[in-house]
Amino acid sequence: MVLILVVFVAIQFIKPEKNNDGYQSVALFEQEIVPTKEIASILKNNCYDCHSDQTNYPWYNNIAPVNYWLEEHIADGKRHFNVSAWDKYSARKKDHKLEELIEYVEEGEMPLDSYTWLHGNLSEKDTEILVQWAQLSRITYQEQMLTISK
Ligand code: HEC
Repeated sequence: MVLILVVFVAIQFIKPEKNNDGYQSVALFEQEIVPTKEIASILKNNCYDCHSDQTNYPWYNNIAPVNYWLEEHIADGKRHFNVSAWDKYSARKKDHKLEELIEYVEEGEMPLDSYTWLHGNLSEKDTEILVQWAQLSRITYQEQMLTISK
């Protein structure tokens, strides 16, 4: 018991590096996809925490090992889909990520359940708006794929 306490206290001092590059890291993405205010806020409030270089951390991130657990989700989320790296994706990859987005959001798999417990989930309307936006954006990338084959 004492050992557990000692370990718990000790790990409070070693913190994983934060994902905090600021919201300017999503600027290029938003310049390209030109979201309406509504879509921008849906993405910011539900997705960017794990899919961009800027996380708005909850208070409980100050507690280890919660912070390690969150950081792992963020790293994993960014590995699969990072809007801050959008300019490095090819048109084909962008189209594919949006295809996945539609699938995940429609099936209620995104945001992750562990996130929606505390942050709340997308409303039915949010889901609809997001899916429509992704479908429209896909057309742009598919057109790009036809002209420049990347
Ligand atoms: C708490 C962190 C978290 C939040 C919030 C979150 N995601 Fe994810 N997302 C992940 C993780 C982790 C993965 C990778 C594992 C997986 O595919 O289940 C992932 C995978 C994805 C993928 C799949 C990418 C690929 O090519 O495999 C898409 C698309 C996606 N998320 C979109 C979204 C959208 C849209 C939102 C907001 C509505 C969102 N996510 C919110 C963590 C998150």
